[in-house]
Amino acid sequence: MTNGLLRPAMLAAARSARLERTVRRMPSTRRLVDRFVAGDTEEQAIAAATPLLESGRRISIDYLGEDTTDIGQARATVKHYLELLSALAHAQAAFSGDQTAVTPAGPLEVSLKLSALGQALPRDGHRIALDHAAEICAAAQAAAAMVTIDAEDHTTTDSTLSIVRELRGEFPDLGTVLQAYLKRTEADCQELAGSRIRLCKGAYREPADVAYQRRAEVDEAYLRCLRILMAGEGYPMVATHDPRMIDAAQRYARETGRDTGDFEFQMLHGIRDDEQRRLVKAGHRLRVYLPYGDQWYGYFMRRLAERPANLVFFLRALRPG
Ligand code: FDA
Repeated sequence: MTNGLLRPAMLAAARSARLERTVRRMPSTRRLVDRFVAGDTEEQAIAAATPLLESGRRISIDYLGEDTTDIGQARATVKHYLELLSALAHAQAAFSGDQTAVTPAGPLEVSLKLSALGQALPRDGHRIALDHAAEICAAAQAAAAMVTIDAEDHTTTDSTLSIVRELRGEFPDLGTVLQAYLKRTEADCQELAGSRIRLCKGAYREPADVAYQRRAEVDEAYLRCLRILMAGEGYPMVATHDPRMIDAAQRYARETGRDTGDFEFQMLHGIRDDEQRRLVKAGHRLRVYLPYGDQWYGYFMRRLAERPANLVFFLRALRPG
């Protein structure tokens, strides 16, 4: 993670509508966005997914969007997911063998942000997001795809986990993301270790009373959470590009008697492609988080904030001439 003042500044910028307009107008932005985002349309997302699946990787497709305060937009997002799932069901026919099975490790998954489904609506947001997510989970089941709910800023965590608990009554394989930088997460891991959990470090700007701020503290928290999940009965999804976390996952898996089919690694589209291929070649399961859609700004800025090299790349591209 980018240290010092830059990362918080970038994460604050990720929520600025004014800066978004500026960044979108810059001629060089698109090329950089394309590194992390699979395109604007469902067709482009499926086109990007195909070679990943052919290379033995699994995918989790995310239709970009967040922080919706408009019910019409939330409904449009649901409709979009339903269309995507129907298109994926057709594309699924192109893949054969055990890859088509609907198992926690099946090849196809969609990721959802509840704030894009209406969670932030001032009236009844929680209930609306729950109903919308249930609609998408049912469509995913019909399309032989899994669903995982993304983790957003800490003010949404209680509502998100309560929606996940409720939906799991009907959809027991529903996954959710836990963020190791939140101080509460070790306890959440203890509670949820029997289920599908995607463990990431955490990408938002959070205050010190709820989240570890120093990189070393976040890494240590990630390792503690990973150990809990690996020792549990569920299916850990190890979402990181960090070699130290990847080594630890392999070590903890050996210690807890898990084989390579009992957990998976996950990375973001456009990041460490060689490492993704290496892990697949070594017999591991590897899922790529594949975002698409024109609401890429917040996602893109969080990727820039994560890594000084990404940011330098961006700033260089802004230089005229
Ligand atoms: P980190 O950024 O701490 O980097 C550690 C080390 O990894 C680096 O020093 C370097 O060695 C290596 N590395 C990292 N990036 C590299 C690169 N581009 N090239 C080469 N080496 C690199 N967050 C969130 O808040 N909510 C969510 O729902 C999700 N969902 C999610 C899904 C998936 C599948 C992933 C992989 C990540 C998320 N995240 C997320 C983002 C996550 O919280 C985190 O911000 C990023 O993954 C960055 O953290 P890392 O663990 O990858 O390593």
